[in-house]
Amino acid sequence: MTIRITGTGSALPEKIVTNFDLQKLVETSDEWIQKRTGIAQRRVSTGETVASLAAGACTKALEMAGKAAEEVDLILVATCSPELLLPCCACQVQDRIGASHAAAFDLNAACAGFLFALNTAQAYLQSGIYKNALIVGSEVLSKLVDWTDRGTCILFGDGAGAAFVEAQAEDFVCENGRKSGVECMVQGADGARGMVLSCAERTLNSAFFSESQDGNLFVQMDGQEVYKFATKQVPACIQQALGQMGIAVDDVDWFLLHQANVRIIESVAKHLKADLAKFPMNIQDVGNMSSATIPVLLDACCRSGKIKRGDRIVLSGFGAGLTYGASVLVW
Ligand code: COA
Repeated sequence: MTIRITGTGSALPEKIVTNFDLQKLVETSDEWIQKRTGIAQRRVSTGETVASLAAGACTKALEMAGKAAEEVDLILVATCSPELLLPCCACQVQDRIGASHAAAFDLNAACAGFLFALNTAQAYLQSGIYKNALIVGSEVLSKLVDWTDRGTCILFGDGAGAAFVEAQAEDFVCENGRKSGVECMVQGADGARGMVLSCAERTLNSAFFSESQDGNLFVQMDGQEVYKFATKQVPACIQQALGQMGIAVDDVDWFLLHQANVRIIESVAKHLKADLAKFPMNIQDVGNMSSATIPVLLDACCRSGKIKRGDRIVLSGFGAGLTYGASVLVW
């Protein structure tokens, strides 16, 4: 059985916030941000929500796949910034798009969330439990960021990306002879180093615990530790995935990496001895949208025709947790 992505979609908030806008909020400069991260601007919600962006992305993915919402079996939303703890975002998406027959739940693997959703969907589909799934990465990180902290507020943006994944009984063989579909996946976590990138929620009950719980509720990050983790772990897990397949870096047409920092992407390309031209990027325009970065980039590359049928793609990312993963697929 083949598991294929047959539709992609994305949705971004209207408002663009440039580095020059941030210069008015914190002591920083467009030059510093561009040089250290590659980011020039990002989208920031002025009302759009994790659920509304996710639903917008899902509608477009279904359109591309030529499917009706009632046909969806499973909705998986990867997010670390939902509006509500209950109900989960996936149930809100189910309601918004009218996918009345779908099971729905959220998962949180931070910026690697879309990869974890893809892997989870693949497991459901391969086991025969479901025939298809809508998988989504959706974030409104702007509400988790301290806009007086120049070390973090310059990095993040809001947005959502979705993919429709289907189990297909018959192989779809591309013109170049490759079989379209997900080929292999690797995922992992290093919880022992989790506090290098964190964001707190309410921790204890207020009825029986009287001490003040007013801590910092914004994103806290040790940027250099995250950088070290990413530049080591991402190439390692890509190599592991390619090793499982018995294929080489040269057999891959495109590497779609989590868009956290251009320097991290350049370092991964160097580690893999791969041509940087094989690493499409959109970080300059949208910043780091956590779980949404990979599906938004995938959607842009597919719609622009950059990625073609039969191309082999590696999706790989890392995030708070610390989590990491890689998926190899033929488009
Ligand atoms: N504007 C101007 N100066 C800034 C700044 C900003 N926005 N943020 C930090 N600085 C300053 C620091 O205060 C420091 O000043 P000092 O030398 O006087 O002490 C200097 O710039 C260097 O800071 P440093 O933290 O060493 O910079 P860096 O090269 O490590 O870059 C990051 C910082 C955050 C861009 C980088 O560490 C990074 O990208 N890490 C990975 C983060 C990530 O990807 N997170 C998301 C994971 S999903």
